[in-house]
Amino acid sequence: MCGIVGYVGPRPSQDILLSGLARLEYRGYDSAGIAVIDDAGSLDMRKRAGKLGVLREDLKAAPMPDGTTGIGHTRWATHGGPTDVNAHPHLADDDKLAVIHNGIIENFAALKNDLLSDGYEFKSETDTEVAAVLLGREYRANGGDLVAAFRATVAQLEGAFTLLAVHQDQPGLVVGARRNSPLVIGLGEGENFLGSDVAAFVEHTRNALAIGQDEIVAITPDGVQVTDFDGNPVQPEPFEVTWDAAAAEKGGWSSFMAKEVSEEPEAVANTIRGRIHEGTVVIPELDGLDDLFSGISRIVVIACGTAAYAGQVGKYALEKWARVPVDVELAHEFRYRDPVIGPGTLVVSISQSGETMDTLMAVKFAREQGAKTLSICNTQGATIPRESDAVVYTHAGPEVAVASTKAFVAQITALYLLALHVGRIRDTIAAVDIAEHVRELEAIPAKIQRVLTLEQAHIEQLAHWMADTRSVLFLGRNVGYPIALEGALKLKEISYIHAEGFAAGELKHGPIALVEPGQPVFVLVPSPRHSALLHSKVVSNIQEIQARGARVIVIAEEGDAAVLPFADEVLHIPLAGAMFEPLLAVVPLHIFAMGLATARGLDVDQPRNLAKSVTVE
Ligand code: F6R
Repeated sequence: MCGIVGYVGPRPSQDILLSGLARLEYRGYDSAGIAVIDDAGSLDMRKRAGKLGVLREDLKAAPMPDGTTGIGHTRWATHGGPTDVNAHPHLADDDKLAVIHNGIIENFAALKNDLLSDGYEFKSETDTEVAAVLLGREYRANGGDLVAAFRATVAQLEGAFTLLAVHQDQPGLVVGARRNSPLVIGLGEGENFLGSDVAAFVEHTRNALAIGQDEIVAITPDGVQVTDFDGNPVQPEPFEVTWDAAAAEKGGWSSFMAKEVSEEPEAVANTIRGRIHEGTVVIPELDGLDDLFSGISRIVVIACGTAAYAGQVGKYALEKWARVPVDVELAHEFRYRDPVIGPGTLVVSISQSGETMDTLMAVKFAREQGAKTLSICNTQGATIPRESDAVVYTHAGPEVAVASTKAFVAQITALYLLALHVGRIRDTIAAVDIAEHVRELEAIPAKIQRVLTLEQAHIEQLAHWMADTRSVLFLGRNVGYPIALEGALKLKEISYIHAEGFAAGELKHGPIALVEPGQPVFVLVPSPRHSALLHSKVVSNIQEIQARGARVIVIAEEGDAAVLPFADEVLHIPLAGAMFEPLLAVVPLHIFAMGLATARGLDVDQPRNLAKSVTVE
């Protein structure tokens, strides 16, 4: 939530800041602003409520002097509504200091009272302005040393924050600090960058440094200095961004979501790449870490939203192949109920962004309780993997649309690889079975592509016909159940239509009362080749709703004739092993959600009220 960018170097900074913000806009799009120290040595600032385009237009209509030191912000409102005044940057020290912030300063009310009693005034309702004014006071108290002022300021802040500041009297310097909120450094030639993530500067450099928890960074054109909050020097960890700027661009697609759904085959293929060797799974990141898995009696998967649904799918594979009991928990519920965990528990966190605060806090809590921690993450240099004992990266590439799609299939893929890896170490699965599952997994990208090629137009047309639908239900059983939940989440998230997912067997215990004539219901039908029993149960569930007038849209494997008499529409997926059907069945649901939102004229990439990286609890 909230995107942050900083630049210092020889070039005019406005364009650099605005294009960095454009790549970070997925993090929040309530308002945007920039502050620049111009070539005459004055601090200029412009901020506007609304998407970045509003700020761009404003700057075009009334240009602001440019300069080579600047900061920029795109906001997801927490304290104070999305207005011009509440937008960042916030100014202090007689408008010579500009501050931007991501996170929540929990003790802002007490700090504000203290500053008010000292005679300071405030223009906005934000916690950020409190940090700005406090920083201004400390700047004076520390004789105009911005880094020292940061040290004194962060010592008084509680909560989560990334703060960036520039001061008119210190051109050529951007200072930042982070606690529980992301910040990375981009290293250029004679110029340096700061960003909430590497997307902020990837078009300029792929050389990056990760900043640790509770650290302060100062960048100048020629140097980077990182210290802890006490001022002790820290050596930041270098890494190279593995994708280029083009990967984070729309590239001719109508939306990022459309592009990202089309990249689902690649996301699976890239997540497998380099991890399969001679018919078995070899995960190089887990080399030498066998004891993470050997002594455990239980796995707890923690995640939120779509990532939690990936975890629910992963549970089936981990239990079946690695024979470990698995609980899947929403991260924000996990640590507030005194869970029974300890050294025998492996806590697996799943997060596309690697920054979700609920998940991060749950990981920290798990570590404090002595559990082992492993993260499945899509973003290099992110906080959650850094806080975990081990990481398995998904290689879905940058996901920009707020609704997660390609990261979801990559997360399931990583979980399957992990389940086979753990099964091999624990000797709970035969080599021949691993080899067969590996073959299945390797065939998935082409099968997803087949769904996209053969069904996309059909599904989009269906979505178009259903544009006025007010409610959609999704039913699944076994591994299809979490996919039903994912289908419902995706639809409500981007099309604002009521949608609910249920375990198909649960319907008769209550939800069937919702079914009235014309109610659209998607049903995920498992293959009869794997379990005639399961298949027949789902077909019975379809008959139950059809008898009550539901409009039944079935997702079934090619050649499943048994469902035809009971379905109004059939969407086909290719034949796959029982465990692998979710990777195919979810694709029509992603296309459908996108198609329906588009038919309703909505912005599929930036749905209302949401942000991609949820860095508040
Ligand atoms: C839904 C969606 C969210 C995220 C959730 C976790 O489409 O994208 O539900 O899955 O906010 O985010 P990450 O994976 O970044 O931790």
